[in-house]
Amino acid sequence: MKKLKKFLRFVVHHVNNRTKRAQLFLFGFRAHPSTAIAWSVSADGGGDGGRIFIDKHSRLDIGVILHANGNVISIGKNSSVNPYCMIHGGGGVTIGDGVRIGSHTVIIAANHIFDDSTQFIYHQGETMKGISIDDDVWIGTGAKILDGVLVAKGTVVSAGAVITKSTEPYSVMAGNPAERIMFRKR
Ligand SMILES: CC(C)(COP(=O)(O)OP(=O)(O)OC[C@H]1O[C@@H](n2cnc3c(N)ncnc32)[C@H](O)[C@@H]1OP(=O)(O)O)[C@@H](O)C(=O)NCCC(=O)NCCS
Repeated sequence: MKKLKKFLRFVVHHVNNRTKRAQLFLFGFRAHPSTAIAWSVSADGGGDGGRIFIDKHSRLDIGVILHANGNVISIGKNSSVNPYCMIHGGGGVTIGDGVRIGSHTVIIAANHIFDDSTQFIYHQGETMKGISIDDDVWIGTGAKILDGVLVAKGTVVSAGAVITKSTEPYSVMAGNPAERIMFRKR
């Protein structure tokens, strides 16, 4: 009985994955067959050739939202995005290999322009520089990663941190705005 349940779980998981990938393909989503894509993931290239690429053995958990907004979101190998994370493509988002992204993290590669106080903000356009997250980064739950930053290799972003500037390799960042609280031991 246990073996049958295990087998059925495997089949359901496999069918879910294939169906989900096929459904999202229409919206510019390209994931390696070895990836695990939860049924409730929302992914959209956003027209104008926007694309989302997910490499081998990576995982998108329940409620993850990936909206490329006409640009590219790419996620490398063996990376995981935990429940209810939101990634907004804007100027493009590149995530490396072996990255761990805690639940409810928001990565948003865009800013509204608000220089002219006589006009509505939504009339003034946006700036979009792009965000890069290198290999072996761990982002704690509820972090925010803002546009134009490089989260360097091996960085740890603590829970709730707001990353407004690029980080140094193997640093540990905390707070709002995030500051380096230590380096990882090497
Ligand atoms: C970053 C983290 C790993 C550091 O853990 P640690 O090495 O045990 O460090 P400490 O708890 O000793 O904290 C070191 C200092 O940073 C501060 N700090 C730690 N986490 C912080 C946070 N999220 N925000 C602000 N300050 C923080 C501590 O208060 C402490 O300050 P002090 O030296 O003035 O007392 C941990 O605090 C964290 O945020 N983990 C994320 C958990 C998570 O999201 N898990 C999801 C799994 S995907």
